[in-house]
Amino acid sequence: MKHLIAPSILSADFANLQRDIEMINESEADWFHVDVMDGVFVPNISFGFPVINAAKKHAKKPFDVHLMIVDPDRYVAEFAKAGADVITVHYEACTHLHRTIQLIKSVGCKAGVALNPHTPVSFLKDILQDIDLALVMSVNPGFGGQQFIPQTLNKLRELKQMASQVNPNLYIEVDGGVGIHNVAALIEAGANVFVAGNAVFAAPNPTQMIADLKNVQAN
Ligand code: DX5
Ligand code: ZN
Repeated sequence: MKHLIAPSILSADFANLQRDIEMINESEADWFHVDVMDGVFVPNISFGFPVINAAKKHAKKPFDVHLMIVDPDRYVAEFAKAGADVITVHYEACTHLHRTIQLIKSVGCKAGVALNPHTPVSFLKDILQDIDLALVMSVNPGFGGQQFIPQTLNKLRELKQMASQVNPNLYIEVDGGVGIHNVAALIEAGANVFVAGNAVFAAPNPTQMIADLKNVQAN
């Protein structure tokens, strides 16, 4: 499948959120990536339901909601109601991950699992057939604009290999430090969904940058 681009609204201008959402609507982007941080699972707080509800009113593309929060089960139904299409929880935040995945599916969303940089992809082995998306963090979650961790490439290769056996349609998403300089290598390693925050919103022409990211060919 052609890779997808998911600009992260964490890097948008919150005082002009409608403008930035409309820019993404008009661009070649595929999804909105929505980073929710609780100040407990990660050392930062981003935004919650009031902002997501307001953003959803203007957005014309699916919401890919990345929950960097503890005990996500408590809020899954409310994120679905707020307009999430994909809900991704962190492996490290879920004691009963299988139950959480079933809960996400029961509210009509696609289910994703995110891995911190130190978490091996092999930990997904027994859940891989049950999920729609695996998100490989290529920075420590919490902040936009960080530097890509190179070991991510090996993790993506291993995940791609695992998924080809049991879940060939899996979305393999990479998040953190993604930009025009590394997308080709990441496609080649197996990623098919690219989150981009800083790369898009710090670009002189964000719409053009989204088009450039979308049109990268694997090496
Ligand atoms: C980091 C978030 C990312 C972040 C990516 O915790 O999960 O989605 O917005 O930002 P960039 O692309 O700037 O690294
Ligand atoms: Zn994210």
